[in-house]
Amino acid sequence: MTPRSQTATPLRAPGFSYRESNRGLLRRDGSLVLHSEEVSLPKLAEKYGTPLYVYSARMIEERYREFDKAFGEEPHTVCYSVKANSNLSILRMLARRGSGFDIVSGGELERVLAADRKAAKRTVFSGVGKTREELSAGLKAGILLFNVESESELWALAECAGRLGKAAPLALRVNPDVAAETHPYISTGLHKHKFGVPIRDARTLYAKASGMRYLKPKGVSVHIGSQITDAAPFGEAMARVADLVRELRGDGHEIDYVDAGGGLGISYNQPHADFLAQVTEYADTLSAPLRPLNVHLLLEPGRSIIGPAGLLLTSVIYKKSNDSKRFLVVDAAMNDLIRPALYGAHHEIVPVIRERDQTSKTETVDIVGPVCETGDFFARDRVIPSIEEGDLVAILDAGAYGMSLSSNYNTRLRPAEILVSGKIAKVIRRREEVSDLLRTES
Ligand code: LLP
Repeated sequence: MTPRSQTATPLRAPGFSYRESNRGLLRRDGSLVLHSEEVSLPKLAEKYGTPLYVYSARMIEERYREFDKAFGEEPHTVCYSVKANSNLSILRMLARRGSGFDIVSGGELERVLAADRKAAKRTVFSGVGKTREELSAGLKAGILLFNVESESELWALAECAGRLGKAAPLALRVNPDVAAETHPYISTGLHKHKFGVPIRDARTLYAKASGMRYLKPKGVSVHIGSQITDAAPFGEAMARVADLVRELRGDGHEIDYVDAGGGLGISYNQPHADFLAQVTEYADTLSAPLRPLNVHLLLEPGRSIIGPAGLLLTSVIYKKSNDSKRFLVVDAAMNDLIRPALYGAHHEIVPVIRERDQTSKTETVDIVGPVCETGDFFARDRVIPSIEEGDLVAILDAGAYGMSLSSNYNTRLRPAEILVSGKIAKVIRRREEVSDLLRTES
């Protein structure tokens, strides 16, 4: 028998690969079956139904480790961005490995505290609209840093800190006016965007902040956008931040931290073979301007850790043609994964069982969900191997901004989530039931 390692075709290594079968036996028809680690996806579909989010624990761990390793000996903390995927089991897994967290709401703070109370001291709080309740909750939890995004927020934080008699460690999120090539909805580093304060106003605001008894300016933060695959804009932003840090230190502020935000992109088209090389280039470019300053670097990756480590498994309900147009109607929809509908985002979609030699017929189809909107599609005019009603397909790279952006539109029940580790598949969130939805209504 051929050893397993020779029969697995990696798709998103090390999380997902095609294998002969989960016993290493050739299927009678010679086809290959998509697995998450050692677990076959058809078995998961049979047991837990579809649509189903499936994550590989090994892949999450490996990507977290490689991200961390890329910054080597530089003093740094990886603060995983909770919004990318906020499942408690995933947060707990990362916390156990020493990760901190980037949060943007009181709800996300609660999640972090539920996952690991001690992780609060490695947590940074971003967002343009933190309420006084949220600021107070962060102060009570003893988080590491508030990334303040306006002068008004500064006064709100001072008020909350004064009321609680607690010092508020803060960084101002500065807007460096650096353009990064990404989708306009997720680009954040230009003056026309709502985020941060213009970098030229920063010194005045730091001076005001340090005049307040309970405010403790400790860092500078920046986040230029998401899904940025070129390292250069990160370096450019950091060069501007480094200049600001020098000025602020010259003004007498103790600036210990630079929070570089998140944003490192992934390739939605190809396998992610060499993440370590990619993240090392990112780390080198980003750290270079800061190195002489000896600051503690905070990083807020979301997508680059969890994106390729998750897929959305779905079944084809119907095939249909409207004149010359062909559709595969699947049981997942835009409420489960909104990225294609919202950003026109590309996700690779593959059959879960495929022929070994890949010579099978292909067809050009739109892959759509059951929701009553034309925008409810996962792919348009996509060439894929012929797929039949009842077959399973996997929508790849859905680990980030998949489940966390899901909704109950059309009173659709959100999928279950499965975390696979080796041969073990654990339900980390059960499928919703209608009663879960009706519970909050009168
Ligand atoms: N830090 C801050 C302040 C952020 O706003 C974000 C993402 C991150 C970190 C994490 O960025 P990442 O490393 O994941 O790129 N829903 C969109 C992405 C929105 C990103 C929002 N902010 C999508 O599906 O592409």
